[in-house]
Amino acid sequence: MNLRKQALIAGASEGIGAAFAVELAARGYDLWLLARRIQPLQLLESQIAAVYPDCLIHLIQVDLAIEDACARIIDELKGTAVDFFVYNAALSFIGPFLSISIEGHLKLVDVNIRTLMKLTYSLGQGMCQRRSGQVVIMASLAGVQGSPYLTSYASSKSFDRIFGESLWYEWKEYNVQVLTCVAGATNTPGYTNTSPVIKGFIRPQVQTPAQVVRACFANLGKVPSFVSGGSNKLGFIVMNRLLPRKWAVSIMAQSTLSMYGDKIIKAD
Ligand SMILES: NC(=O)c1ccc[n+]([C@@H]2O[C@H](COP(=O)([O-])OP(=O)(O)OC[C@H]3O[C@@H](n4cnc5c(N)ncnc54)[C@H](OP(=O)(O)O)[C@@H]3O)[C@@H](O)[C@H]2O)c1
Repeated sequence: MNLRKQALIAGASEGIGAAFAVELAARGYDLWLLARRIQPLQLLESQIAAVYPDCLIHLIQVDLAIEDACARIIDELKGTAVDFFVYNAALSFIGPFLSISIEGHLKLVDVNIRTLMKLTYSLGQGMCQRRSGQVVIMASLAGVQGSPYLTSYASSKSFDRIFGESLWYEWKEYNVQVLTCVAGATNTPGYTNTSPVIKGFIRPQVQTPAQVVRACFANLGKVPSFVSGGSNKLGFIVMNRLLPRKWAVSIMAQSTLSMYGDKIIKAD
């Protein structure tokens, strides 16, 4: 009988998800690594296996955007009790709301909200019954005020934060810890592929995935949510507590325009 704890990472093959996988393997967990592309998953599997030969690694190839993603994942788990669940994957679009198809926006809702909610519901039932479990949900600084040109992404990340914070309270009595990480710019393929242009006085201090994951473990079980990174914390306080809301939203708009100006084609 395998007595090792089990961790499921949704969006595991790169960036923050991969850093979670490495950290959880180091902490003695077996891993269930999930993503759409199999090769990056296999590469990560071989890298972890080389360092942690006792770690049993399972790969799940599924797109979190599809309607039955949650059912397929539960099927793949074959009744395995998940002790640690990370929902890391997200879909994002940069551009005016109307320049992106409604199908695109709704697919984003499927990945960033619906499948997160379904999986948390399924896995949370077992955790609450067993009176044990840990859940980490990735949110974003984009979701703490209006973020023009990131409208659906930022709104979904706002949902993710409130969802995680609410469960932090509800599931405390079941000894299930829920943490939402409000991340800022992090050096992941997902971020670098957007080719941000960093100029002007608002310069994000880019964190490494390992820094974000370390901060998650430092905060898990202590707070409902936290902002990762010193300068991000400062930015959060200024934007959310000090500035009038209309200034905060306008600053976000200007910052996104200056980083992605050439990609932001205004809809007619
Ligand atoms: N990076 C940043 O600057 C930043 C800033 C703030 C917040 N965040 C948050 O941090 C989280 C991680 O962001 P990230 O930049 O590391 O990477 P990401 O691009 O959101 O996701 C990376 C991982 O998720 C998998 N993935 C993506 N879409 C998927 C889907 N539909 N179904 C299954 N797997 C999927 C990717 O593999 P496949 O492509 O093979 O599926 C990869 O393993 C997100 O929730 C994001 O909102 C990131």
